Amino acid sequence: MASSLFSLHFFLLLFLYQPLFSMANLHKSNNMILRSNHRSHLINTIPFNENSSTVYFEVTKPIKLPNTKPCSYHVLHHDFGFTYGRPPVVVNYTPPACYSQKFTKIVLEWKATCKGTQFDRIFGVWLSGVELLRGCTAEPTPKGIIWSVEKDITRYNSLLLKNQTQTLAVYLGNIVDQTYTGVYHVNLTFHFYPVECNVMINNDENKTSLNNLASNYYSKADLILPISQDRPLNDGLWFEVRNSNETKSKQFQIPENVYRAVLEVYISFHENDEFWYGNFQNDYIAANNLSDTPGNGPFREVVIYLDGEVVGAVWPFTVIYTGGINPSFWTPITGISSFNLPSYDTEMTPFLGNMLDGKPHTLGFSVTNALNVWFIDANLHLWLDTRKAKTEGGLVKFSNKAANVYEESDFKGLNGTFLTNSKRLISSTGWIKSSYGNITTHSIQEFRLHITRRRFLHFCQQCHVRIQREQVQAWWFGFLHQLSAKYPESTIGY
Ligand SMILES: *[C@@H]1O[C@H](CO)[C@@H](O)[C@H](O)[C@H]1NC(C)=O
Ligand SMILES: *[C@@H]1O[C@H](CO)[C@@H](O)[C@H](O)[C@H]1NC(C)=O
Ligand SMILES: *[C@@H]1O[C@H](CO)[C@@H](O)[C@H](O)[C@H]1NC(C)=O
Ligand SMILES: *[C@@H]1O[C@H](CO)[C@@H](O)[C@H](O)[C@H]1NC(C)=O
Ligand SMILES: *[C@@H]1O[C@H](CO)[C@@H](O)[C@H](O)[C@H]1NC(C)=O
Ligand SMILES: *[C@@H]1O[C@H](CO)[C@@H](O)[C@H](O)[C@H]1NC(C)=O
Ligand SMILES: *[C@@H]1O[C@H](CO)[C@@H](O)[C@H](O)[C@H]1NC(C)=O
Ligand SMILES: *[C@@H]1O[C@H](CO)[C@@H](O)[C@H](O)[C@H]1NC(C)=O
Repeated sequence: MASSLFSLHFFLLLFLYQPLFSMANLHKSNNMILRSNHRSHLINTIPFNENSSTVYFEVTKPIKLPNTKPCSYHVLHHDFGFTYGRPPVVVNYTPPACYSQKFTKIVLEWKATCKGTQFDRIFGVWLSGVELLRGCTAEPTPKGIIWSVEKDITRYNSLLLKNQTQTLAVYLGNIVDQTYTGVYHVNLTFHFYPVECNVMINNDENKTSLNNLASNYYSKADLILPISQDRPLNDGLWFEVRNSNETKSKQFQIPENVYRAVLEVYISFHENDEFWYGNFQNDYIAANNLSDTPGNGPFREVVIYLDGEVVGAVWPFTVIYTGGINPSFWTPITGISSFNLPSYDTEMTPFLGNMLDGKPHTLGFSVTNALNVWFIDANLHLWLDTRKAKTEGGLVKFSNKAANVYEESDFKGLNGTFLTNSKRLISSTGWIKSSYGNITTHSIQEFRLHITRRRFLHFCQQCHVRIQREQVQAWWFGFLHQLSAKYPESTIGY
């Protein structure tokens, strides 16, 4: 009993009194000394097999693979040492020789080893500027670790099979010196699984049938445009959003025969916002002189702009990186989505009418209440009408009930109660006339958040520690990109 109480206190102290923190992606190296003690202490407590590398893994839903032998393409082999402030590693990518076949599944396999002392690092994989994977590395041990990520990248089919040489870029910012000795040895392989013989191939040419409409709507995009930073650069291809006033944007131009568009956004959060959901309100920080504590409260959202107007939002998932809170929590099972960060889709079809003029447009991103730093970029997935050189469309209705962040705090010293409420509703309706007919799409994004946090601190005389009791009640939900299509039957075909 005593020991479990102690460990509970220890947990609370670590979890809550010591600010939530980890080493994930120290963007600049200056905080390094401050954080290293914490880590070296923990590393010694991690059990490992003294003779062989420990396998670290994330619990995820397995990828459903067809019963065929994959054609595998070893895309990259690289050792990531001291890479901060350097360009991403680039290699030429040409579709493999087996590419004349049709594939039902394409799987990216990231396999890496590391030995020594090293922080958790954030990395990205891009093909022609389109992001395929955002991940966090596992934290190594002196005897070595190994981990792998398998990701279904079938939705990037049109890009992966493009009959031309493209550039594949990988950025993994890392520091290697006398203290931080872990070099990441990485292999990147793409596995192409051919269609099973008895499975009917979805004939992309046959778009006249009503039955095919839905399946084509949800099939893979015909073209994917990168909304990321252009190389050459000495960093990842993501944009960096450092505060709430910053909007990062990119120009793009779409073909004139697009009939559906989906924006896929990749997001990761670092340094002062790595645990944004645990940040305190600024009045509390100021009153208690907690100048090292990150603030701006616990609410963040990524806002998406098309030509300067809000068209969508993302309320990101709270991924804890492998150095987060206490690294020994994540050995060998890592936190949800930490090896393979989620991306978020926003339906852009209702807005297509504004983009089909053959002119450049801009997509931008900001983060409400952001502190340094958020890494954001996106892929614009486009479906093309193979039977028409031009589609046309129009936005019928649009409403954006802006985020209304309500914050309330009631505190005395470090004790207090903190409330945060917010919601946003974005709804859009637009029509698009293609060879499928004149189709109206309706998209809704609805988010709500409510957090109540109570915090009490007092000094325990017997145990000589400061004990913190903290209670957090939080819920939030989001309805994302509900798409409904209405099409008058008579207009199907042309
Ligand atoms: C590690 O290797 C040594 C010598 O080869 C052996 O005696 C020991 O049992 C091994 N330990 C483990 C955990 O396999
Ligand atoms: C990566 O591939 C190389 C060459 O095929 C191999 O020697 C090495 O062991 C592999 N490393 C990992 C981590 O799989
Ligand atoms: C790919 O392109 C090359 C040259 O542009 C051409 O010779 C070849 O037939 C193409 N392959 C396929 C499968 O389309
Ligand atoms: C297209 O679909 C229709 C109806 O499902 C079918 O009758 C026709 O054979 C298909 N055409 C091709 C080229 O697959
Ligand atoms: C954002 O802009 C407002 C208004 O110009 C300014 O008061 C505030 O200090 C800015 N915040 C940051 C973090 O730059
Ligand atoms: C915060 O700092 C100010 C000025 O140094 C001081 O007057 C005040 O008492 C401090 N408050 C706390 C809670 O330590
Ligand atoms: C498509 O349908 C919408 C809504 O019914 C209508 O407003 C629009 O004019 C139609 N477009 C064309 C080109 O027929
Ligand atoms: C904070 O709450 C604890 C526990 O209720 C209490 O012991 C302590 O005196 C309180 N501190 C302040 C500054 O009110």
